[in-house]
Amino acid sequence: MKIKARIVPSRRPRLAWSGTTGGPSRCSQPRVVYGSGVTSLVTREMLPKTSSRNQLEDALDVDVEDLQTLGTFIINTAKDEDTSDLSILIQSIGTSCKYIANCVRKLGLANGKLGGKAGTENVQGEEQMKLDLVAHEVFSRGLDRSGRCTVMVSEEVEELIPCASSPHGRYVCVFDPLDGSSNIDCSVSIGSIFGIYKATERGVFNPKDALQPGKDMVAAGYALYGSACNLVLTIGGCVYGFTLDSSLGEFVLTHPKIRVPPSGNIYSINEGNSKFWDAGMANYVNHVKNIQDPPRSLRYIGSMVADVHRTLLYGGTFSYPSDSKSKDGKLRTLYECFPMAYIMEKAGGAASDGKNRILDITPHHIHQRSPIHMGSAEDVKEIERFLTEQ
Ligand code: AHG
Ligand code: MN
Ligand code: MN
Repeated sequence: MKIKARIVPSRRPRLAWSGTTGGPSRCSQPRVVYGSGVTSLVTREMLPKTSSRNQLEDALDVDVEDLQTLGTFIINTAKDEDTSDLSILIQSIGTSCKYIANCVRKLGLANGKLGGKAGTENVQGEEQMKLDLVAHEVFSRGLDRSGRCTVMVSEEVEELIPCASSPHGRYVCVFDPLDGSSNIDCSVSIGSIFGIYKATERGVFNPKDALQPGKDMVAAGYALYGSACNLVLTIGGCVYGFTLDSSLGEFVLTHPKIRVPPSGNIYSINEGNSKFWDAGMANYVNHVKNIQDPPRSLRYIGSMVADVHRTLLYGGTFSYPSDSKSKDGKLRTLYECFPMAYIMEKAGGAASDGKNRILDITPHHIHQRSPIHMGSAEDVKEIERFLTEQ
């Protein structure tokens, strides 16, 4: 039966995947859906490599050949029940990040409902922004509803958060729902950070599961709400980057294998704290300031997600050291340092507390802090040399 493929470039077709539920099925042939129902079944083979195929690609502004969304990507990584549950968990996180990205876009237009201070403090004694609380609600409800977690840790909640019991509860999720809060009201890039561990017993809430060493994570990622909305993810192998295509409402795979350059020309640190640094840190920064051919640049955004994302793509280092003001530094070990360190290492970089590998730390408290230096492996080693030689 010859199905007439009708390309109507004026109306934005939605790519749907075959299968009655409308969700992605094993088959990798997209069909183009117009209006309320399927009016044509277009498979890749049927599209001649001529104008009609280009028309489809133009209409969709994507390269149909390579279109991989977070959903199809993560479903295809599932090999068994465990990893299928992980893919469901990660999809729920993707949905939460899309929701928060939407809030960030609308922030300035929501007449104060989403921006500004909440008038409360978090466990760290830091003023909470309204968007911190919204992002926490979105993340925690999404994770709970996924039925794949036994316990959660949020930067915004002092205690562990047990999840509704579920036979599929195989994972622990730790997250910073909104990172870079001080940048919310001035439209500077902010983000969300998450890390995932295996639960020791399926469906059982075990508090100790939230205090595993960073190296035992099975997945980690972050969303960056910037000029584009990116989601960077590793499930233990390569590091993948997705970009939110708001016309599709999907995270599309745009960075199939991110590798951090072995060295870079950018260093990132809050020099406003230099009067509190110890000698080793001060000597290191002084050293990089005097490097020529080429000279180093200082870039500091004040949102860890944005500073780390730039470091991941361009190389160099991001540091939040300990100092006389904060002996353990500022960043939280479990849901800021560990996930970012896990991603950085999987991309070929390094992450240290100044002396040791961050991921070797076994946390004793869910909100403890660590000094952190991460980025290009050679540059992180150089920082460790300065900090241990002092
Ligand atoms: P959060 O908004 O989740 O509290 O995180 C803010 C962190 C981190 O994003 C950033 O790297 C660091 O605070 C910046 O701290 P300073 O303003 O002290 O430099
Ligand atoms: Mn943070
Ligand atoms: Mn935060």
